[in-house]
Amino acid sequence: MNNLLQPFAPAALALLLLLPLGAQATEAEPAAKLANVVILATGGTIAGAGASAANSATYTAAKVPVEQLLASVPQLSNLANVRGEQVMQIASESISNDNLLQLGKRVAELAASPEVDGIVITHGTDTLEETAFFLTLVEHTEKPIVVVGSMRPGTAMSADGMLNLYNAVAVASDPSARGKGVLVTMNDEIQSGRDVSKSVNIKTEAFKSPWGPLGMVVEGKSYWFRLPVKRHTMNSEFDIKNIRSLPRVDIAYGYGNVDDTAYKAFGQAGAKAIIQAGTGNGSVAARVVPSLQELRKDGVHIIRSSHVNQGGFVLRNAEQPDDKYDWVVAHDLNPQKARILAEVALTSTQDSKELQRIFWEY
Ligand code: DGL
Repeated sequence: MNNLLQPFAPAALALLLLLPLGAQATEAEPAAKLANVVILATGGTIAGAGASAANSATYTAAKVPVEQLLASVPQLSNLANVRGEQVMQIASESISNDNLLQLGKRVAELAASPEVDGIVITHGTDTLEETAFFLTLVEHTEKPIVVVGSMRPGTAMSADGMLNLYNAVAVASDPSARGKGVLVTMNDEIQSGRDVSKSVNIKTEAFKSPWGPLGMVVEGKSYWFRLPVKRHTMNSEFDIKNIRSLPRVDIAYGYGNVDDTAYKAFGQAGAKAIIQAGTGNGSVAARVVPSLQELRKDGVHIIRSSHVNQGGFVLRNAEQPDDKYDWVVAHDLNPQKARILAEVALTSTQDSKELQRIFWEY
């Protein structure tokens, strides 16, 4: 080093040593990139409004627009870059197959976009379990899709919708939620869209899965305890892109003194399958079997589920001769879930053995 620079040598050496640190100090770690989450609003109580804060059960569902929903939880912006779309604004007891297809196709479009990392669907709780199951059967994506509702309107004391929505966005923006099928966040729990159903119509702890939740979401963080084993999303043989319409499938309720009136009416209305919401083991009253055999001869499938309220477990030929009558069993799916799977399955097969395979696998 020439003499002119000699006096600066120690400082130069120190600078060279410190530069990398300095570089680190001046180039502060960029803030972690927030996920892009789209909220698709469909209506329900989470968009409901009551006359006073004391009205936790008396209110009108499907009133509040998605922009107002997002504005009611400003903390969402700490979790993700969030934007909303009002896909529909209805109470979910009124959702039709056409609404399901419309929602499913919009979800597929968004899931295919590299600009979207996760999707939240706000939904009425009455048929939330049906929509969540439908989407898990037909959406071919690993990205988190989270369906969320509330048991109380946002105008009520201790409304549950805001935290449910916060939790749903937290899960939808969490990479650990990828590949777990469509999820439902209610009451701090993360439920499988396949397993969960509404078990009571008045409490915030309304959604239960017979096999338990997949995890919990607490203060914006997901905690997982188990994984779904039934086929879903990427591992499903069904794809919304290939479904233009859903066939008619009806549900007939089993009870003492029942006769064949409802079954015959559903057959005349064009049902391609009738779900037996049976007593106990998915049982069928002996007096209606002859009509069911006639319906089967006309190509209508009979699928046995149970209306017991903690979830059925219907096995073939247990109390009912399914092989003899060429019936299908819904296994652990409740009647409303069995209807969804039957409708999706019938878009690809009319064969009863194939239907039974599908009911074992999904
Ligand atoms: N009408 C019911 C529905 O939209 C209200 C129940 C709710 O959303 O919690 O499903």
